[in-house]
Formats: sequence, structure tokens, C-alpha cells
Amino acid sequence: MRAKTLRREGRVTTTKRLGWADESCRAFVFGTGRVIGDGGFVFQSSHAPGAAAEMRDAGTLEDWRSTVAAACEGNPLMVLAVSLAFAGALFEPMHTEGGGIHLRGASSRGKSTVLRVAVSVWGSPKFLQSWRATSNGLEGVAAACNGSLIALDEMGEIDAREAGKTAYMLANGQGKARASRTGTARPAARWKTSILSSGEISLADKMTEAGQTSRAGQEVRLLDILADGQTHGAFDDLNRHSDPAAFADEIRLKAATAFGTAGPAFVEHLLRNMNEATRQAREFIDSFKAIAAEKFDLTSDGQTSRAVARFGLIAAAGELATAWGITGWQPEAAINAALTGLELWLNGRGGAGQKEARDAVIRLRAFISAHGSSKFENLDGDAPRTILNRAGWTRGETYYIATDAWHEIHAGHDPVRCAKYVRDEGFLESGDGRNLAQRAPTAIPGRPRVYVIKGPILGAGDD
Ligand SMILES: Nc1ncnc2c1ncn2[C@@H]1O[C@H](COP(=O)(O)OP(=O)(O)O)[C@@H](O)[C@H]1O
Ligand SMILES: [Mg+2]
Repeated sequence: MRAKTLRREGRVTTTKRLGWADESCRAFVFGTGRVIGDGGFVFQSSHAPGAAAEMRDAGTLEDWRSTVAAACEGNPLMVLAVSLAFAGALFEPMHTEGGGIHLRGASSRGKSTVLRVAVSVWGSPKFLQSWRATSNGLEGVAAACNGSLIALDEMGEIDAREAGKTAYMLANGQGKARASRTGTARPAARWKTSILSSGEISLADKMTEAGQTSRAGQEVRLLDILADGQTHGAFDDLNRHSDPAAFADEIRLKAATAFGTAGPAFVEHLLRNMNEATRQAREFIDSFKAIAAEKFDLTSDGQTSRAVARFGLIAAAGELATAWGITGWQPEAAINAALTGLELWLNGRGGAGQKEARDAVIRLRAFISAHGSSKFENLDGDAPRTILNRAGWTRGETYYIATDAWHEIHAGHDPVRCAKYVRDEGFLESGDGRNLAQRAPTAIPGRPRVYVIKGPILGAGDD
């Protein structure tokens, strides 16, 4: 008996990881050392960054619900931000990639206040990070925010080059592998976390400052929404205040008084019945998708469907928190807030630009379907065929389109912008640096620059 107990005690697993201790989601670890769920995990905190220690609480859950959460009612951006904060704990059990939202808008419109509200779900006001302070210790901070929220204020304060790198690494969910002192590879830190960011311009525009182009993958991981166009800046319902600034100041105070209780309560409910919770989450996501499809003229491109799914998960997190009595909000408040978020994202993408992008893909698809076998030399074939008016080459499911043929296909349109659209839709594999065309593979004589189009474009629809 005794030996058995000792063996069981010996089975303690130390973890340096905060949030979900592993992919099985049996235990959730807080920077304070608190563990919810499987008590076999013990947090080894010696190298934890400061952010971890700020994941602490003040006041009761009821205090938070009746002050911070109550102020969110009628304020879709605040409901959205809080729902996103809860969603951080859902990524791992739902097996989805992490990501989040960038609130873009002029200064003094309440963006940072919205970030503070989201932060109060998990910790103290100091759990709010700044882009600037984070660019150095980003990996540590992101790992500390695993399973919860990384809130990054003021993108404008950091170097444009840095912004791109930081966003890329955050979105990837993985740090750099490094050699340890003994020379063996130390595994890279990994995280799945909600990201909530603020700034006066979008990530894409920020990166343009440094001559970089953001990749579609980055943009869809950090969905850009205009956050200063609500009734009063970022706010709609000032809760009996006549002045938005006074409302902002009151919320800031509330979020600094009651915090760090809602996130842990959410995790407790999740752990109580994970299967049921994820099943309900999927139901919320499905109904969100159905409502969104009815409400908006959604295109079937990959970016849009990923964004819809992301907003759906945020809605689901908020609805679960409401169903579990954590927020005190009306049912569907989180779904409606996520619909507002999706609408803002769609508006920001620009209706016309969206259509142009779709048209570029349709032109290309039509051309390849019509001339795929007549105007493209097949590099897989053993005997070369003579091709009249060759537009390019093909191998497997890839098409290499010569630049002059590209110009012809997109006659009447800006060919470079068309290439960007096709790349953003995920069908063009761009070259290094800012080149959208790349050197042809060695099998093609002279290796001219070509646009490399991936086969799935033939299945891309205009339904
Ligand atoms: N919607 C608003 N309209 C007018 N003033 C505001 C608004 N929101 C906040 N403020 C004022 O601006 C200050 C900064 O708020 P903050 O949330 O940090 O704005 P932002 O991050 O958009 O610059 C607040 O202390 C408040 O005085
Ligand atoms: Mg601010």
C-alpha cells in the first residue's frame, strides 16, 4: 500500500508550460502555480517571465460579472474582446490554430480600454503587454499566455520590420529552436493563444512601411477590424455616462479592481465535462456560420471561411461563458458581437477589392481549364510535344505561367496586383523577397521568371 502511494506521488510531472499542460488538456496551469484539473502537474516557475505572475486574481467572480462584464452589455467590441479572451482556452481542446483580432483606429477612442477589459478575464492590468516591450521576450511571453490571451497594445510603437516578424511568430504558435549550452537542440516553445492587438494602422500597412508584404496567413490569423467607428469610438452604450472618456476611465478602474476570476472559472467548467463543452462549442460555431451565411454575402475563398470559423469560435467561447453563468450576458450577445466583428472585417477587406480578387482567380481558372493541355508543355511527359503559343509549363498539379502569358490573361487589369490577389487567395506560390514571379525549375530551359500556380485553383469556385 505504502509503496504504491509513494509511486503515485513520484509520478508528479513538472511543467514549464502555462495554460494547458499538454495536448490532452487534463490540467491547466497558472503562473501563480495554481493547477486546475489533474493535480499531477506542478509548475516549474524559475524561468517564467513577469507576465506569468500577473495571471492572478482580485475580487470575486461576482464582482467581475457585476462591474466589468455588465459594462460590456450593449458594447459589441467589448463583448467580442472578452469572448476572444475566453477563446484562448478553447483552441487546444477544439484542435484549432490560435489567433485573434487587431483593433485598428485613431488614438483616444477606447481601443486600449477594450484590451484592458479582455485582460481582466485572465489577470491584472499588468497582464496587458505592449508590442514594444514584447519584441525581445516575445517567445517567453507568448508561452506564458498559452491557453489564454496575449494582449498587445500599440503596434505603432514598434519598428515595422519587427512588427512583421513578431506577428509571424505569434501566428505560427512556435518559437525558434535553439541549441542548449551542451549543444543539443532545445525544443522550441509552442503556444496556442488568443491574440488581441491595437494600433493606429493595420498590420499589413505597418509592414508596408518596411517594404514588406504581409502574408495572407498572417492577416487571417490576426483579423483586422476598424475599432473607432462605433457610436462613440470603440463604444456604443456608455452606461449612463454622457462622455465616452468618463466611461473609458470608469472601465479601466473596474478592470483594475476585479480581475483574473472569469478565465479560471471558464477552465473549471471546461474541465468538468470537456466532451460536452466541445460538442456545444461546435453547435454554437455551426449556428454562427449559418447566421453569417444568411446575413452577409460571403465568398467561398479560403480567407473568408477561415475568418468566419475564427469568429465562430470566439462566439462559441462567449456563449459558453454565458451559459455557465460567468458573464451574466443575454444569450446570443457573444454571437451578435462576433457578427459585428465579422462585418467590420468584411468591410475592411473592401467590397471592390474582394471582387477584383475573386475575378482574378476566376480568369486564371478559366484559362487553365480551357488551355491546360493545349498551351502548357507537360514536363512529366517523356516525349516533348511542340506547343504553339505556349503559355507555360505544367508538372503534376502545378502550372508555371510565363510572364507574357500572365499579362495576356489579365489584360485590362494590373498584372502585379492580380498576382497579389491570387497569392492572397492561396493559389500562387511567390518567389523570394517581394517577387511574385519565381525562377522556373531547372527542367525549363533558360529558367525564365514564371508565376507558379497550384493545381487546386481548378476547384476554386465562384459559387
Ligand atoms: N471613445 C472615446 N471618445 C473620447 N475619448 C475617449 C474615448 N475612449 C477613450 N477616450 C479617452 O482617451 C483616453 C485613452 O483611452 P484608450 O482606451 O487608451 O484609447 P486608445 O487606445 O484608443 O488610444 C481615455 O483615458 C479617455 O480619456
Ligand atoms: Mg491605446
